[in-house]
Amino acid sequence: MKLPDFIEARTRDKRDYKTVSFNIDESIKNKYAGMKFHLKTYGCQMNEHDSENIKALLTMIGFEEVEDYENADLVLLNTCSIRENAHNKAFGMLGRLKHLKEQRPEILVGLCGCMAQEVSVVEEIMKDYKFVNFVFGTHNLHEFPNIIDKAIEENKQQIEVYSRESDLVEGLPVIRANKYKAYVNIIYGCNKFCTYCIVPYTRGRERSRKKEDILKEVDELVKDGYKEVTLLGQNVNAYGKDLYDDYNMGNLLEDVAKSGIPRVRFTTSHPWDFTDNMIDVIAKYDNVMPSIHLPVQSGSSRVLKLMGRRYTRESYLELFDKMKERIPGVTISTDIIVGFPGEEEEDFQQTLDLVDYCKYDNAFTFVFSPRVGTPAEKLNDNVPLKEKEERLQRLNEKVNTYFLENNKKLEGSVLDVLVEGISDKKNMYYGYSDTNKLVNFISNKELELGDIVPVKITASKTWSLDGEVDE
Ligand code: SAH
Ligand code: SF4
Ligand code: F3S
Repeated sequence: MKLPDFIEARTRDKRDYKTVSFNIDESIKNKYAGMKFHLKTYGCQMNEHDSENIKALLTMIGFEEVEDYENADLVLLNTCSIRENAHNKAFGMLGRLKHLKEQRPEILVGLCGCMAQEVSVVEEIMKDYKFVNFVFGTHNLHEFPNIIDKAIEENKQQIEVYSRESDLVEGLPVIRANKYKAYVNIIYGCNKFCTYCIVPYTRGRERSRKKEDILKEVDELVKDGYKEVTLLGQNVNAYGKDLYDDYNMGNLLEDVAKSGIPRVRFTTSHPWDFTDNMIDVIAKYDNVMPSIHLPVQSGSSRVLKLMGRRYTRESYLELFDKMKERIPGVTISTDIIVGFPGEEEEDFQQTLDLVDYCKYDNAFTFVFSPRVGTPAEKLNDNVPLKEKEERLQRLNEKVNTYFLENNKKLEGSVLDVLVEGISDKKNMYYGYSDTNKLVNFISNKELELGDIVPVKITASKTWSLDGEVDE
């Protein structure tokens, strides 16, 4: 048994880690043939990508996926700790599984992902959710086949969670959710320690994958007919800092662009270390998409300081202006937290004012959610919940007006769209533009999924555009 520990997780010492190749014991390959699994994913793109690895690992040991969890032999929850509601959703599901297990005691229940890294969660599972068969963390996903094997063989709860990152494992199997768009991890973990955020505790310190390994994966995706890669990291701009003296995110972005894959995206970028070189590469290469997610969190420098974000309203806007100026047609999206402890009406007004200036193309807005073990949890929170919710509503009204206003300006223009599928409801094709706009469209001719086609925009909505293929 190995339990997580936040004090250990908080240590910032630079550890040496090795890159090792994934390996699986021959004895467990296909051992569970005929068994069915259902996997639920609660978190960010990184969490979704982990699920793509988990599915492949389960397939290797013989499991098959089923859509309905009630028909599964194994239900696995890949969890997220970022806000309380993600947390509550996973515990709600555990409640339902408790009932299911009363009717079908033989089913297996497992929990992994970021919540597994939280001491308080693991303690609660050991005390009140004894029916959970196994728990493993974000640092030992590659060991999962052995953990499940042990849980079945020994028929007792297995808790295997490491507080600190392990070696970087290359060659994990993957079953990708999409045939045209692929996630590629470039850096794991986060060193930023924004005061509200739990990620550095659940994902460990920054560790970059070797550039050769990343470029090889991208080349294989090109060969397999993929049209788009999204380079993933909690802060992709830190890429390479832990590994190289003279190779950074700008260099990697350029090398990935040169692979010839039609579309390159990346997420997430912290405004603090977004370099001019990155901006130049985005501007120079047509296949690096002109769409940047640049979380601001707050428009008040005072609140940004409390959040430990390392930039000010002014320096953020300077970067924002530079992007708009140097990258033609770029769209910028953001994340905003309202109701951070100490946020006064005046600070919130500054956030609204910043939104008026930036007129974002998309924004994810949240009410601050205190996370156990983070510095912000201990700050004196003077803002009543009702007030926070009101602020969120006011903010949402404002961001939505700009989504629609920006989309309206696109009516009559032609956007390149990757054909991703046909929506059942509308019987229209759908896909995303270079600038990351969702487009529903019609075509006189039948289209191949995975093609990139010009679409003339005929109507605009807040969250999507309508159009027809421009022939
Ligand atoms: N690495 C990314 C963030 C990942 S979390 C970055 O730094 O941009 C995604 C978003 O969740 C954050 O940008 C933030 O807006 C929000 N978030 C994180 N912790 C939160 C908390 N404790 N309460 C509310 N929102 C939070
Ligand atoms: Fe969290 Fe900040 Fe790291 Fe993003 S940069 S994952 S918000 S600590
Ligand atoms: Fe959630 Fe972990 Fe991602 S906390 S947002 S799943 S890194």
